[in-house]
Amino acid sequence: MMEFDKEMNIRVNYIDEVIGKHLPAKEGMQVTVIEAMNYSVLAGGKRLRPMILCEIYKMCGGTSKVVEPFMAAIEMIHTYSLVHDDLPAMDNDDYRRGKLTTHKKFGEDIGILAGDGLLNFAYETMLKAFDFCYNDSSCNNDRSSNNDRSCDCDSTSNKENNCDCVSVKNVINSCKILSEKAGIYGMVGGQTLDVLLTNKTMNEEQLDFIFLLKTGALLEASFTIGAELAGASNQDIHKLLEVGKKVGLAFQIQDDILDVISSQEVLGKPVLSDEKNNKTTYVTLYGMKKSLSDVEKLSKEAIELLKIVGNNEFLEQLILKLIHREK
Ligand code: IPE
Ligand code: IPE
Ligand code: MG
Ligand code: MG
Ligand code: MG
Repeated sequence: MMEFDKEMNIRVNYIDEVIGKHLPAKEGMQVTVIEAMNYSVLAGGKRLRPMILCEIYKMCGGTSKVVEPFMAAIEMIHTYSLVHDDLPAMDNDDYRRGKLTTHKKFGEDIGILAGDGLLNFAYETMLKAFDFCYNDSSCNNDRSSNNDRSCDCDSTSNKENNCDCVSVKNVINSCKILSEKAGIYGMVGGQTLDVLLTNKTMNEEQLDFIFLLKTGALLEASFTIGAELAGASNQDIHKLLEVGKKVGLAFQIQDDILDVISSQEVLGKPVLSDEKNNKTTYVTLYGMKKSLSDVEKLSKEAIELLKIVGNNEFLEQLILKLIHREK
């Protein structure tokens, strides 16, 4: 039995190091927006999305550092979604990750721009993954002969050549996944229905749509990008998308539960925010008992599906721990 907390700390430290390496330098006349961006990212957070992305990559056999730009990028996009979610025009919350929200600390104008900055910088960061497609000197493929800067290796010959080069196709597909899951067919789409239906009654289908998109989409991206970068089969990627959906739903249900039963000290963000904003939540729609049991049910289903694709004891335990997470 692994020491979960110790393993968790190792991963969080590694992720913080990766994120730190990719944050913009605090310089230039626009330094204020950079300070606000770095403030919100470095405020902490569970780092769940980069953690899952990296664990799936390893589980699917990946060994290169090509995951790192994606790990940093997905945390930047997630953090931007939180910065904007907390704005007065949205949930109007004053605390996040145990600190003042970005707009409270830097003003609403800079808060908006810090979110915009993080979103764009995430793409600048993610695109650095292409460096890993042709930069490895141990690669046997002669790339000087063609103008296409991409490496000709495919994942099989990579393994035979003992080369860390990653297929351009896998990186392009990963970029597609992240941009789609962050946008109108993902997080932004979910947040849109969330704000439109604030103060209104909501049916089950609408709540499902909101949860799958506002929270599920970035978790789906974590599961599938890790697999895509490692060159997993379409069949496995499809199963991992389903795992991401289930983990995402369970995660947002638990978020709604904690909004009712936790405290700001533990959570690092205000409780009863949903009630304040008159939001329909999983708890208001289905009741606390079903909410608790659905978190458990979805998480266990996710683990069973994950096991079909591969073996990662840490990740299985992580999903189990999230059932009873307190923050
Ligand atoms: C909060 O996400 C917003 C939701 C999608 C529920 P997290 O609970 O992962 O927030 P951090 O990153 O740990 O602060
Ligand atoms: C927001 O859901 C999810 C995002 C995409 C940011 P919530 O509004 O419930 O998230 P918290 O509770 O503020 O973290
Ligand atoms: Mg919200
Ligand atoms: Mg909120
Ligand atoms: Mg919430």
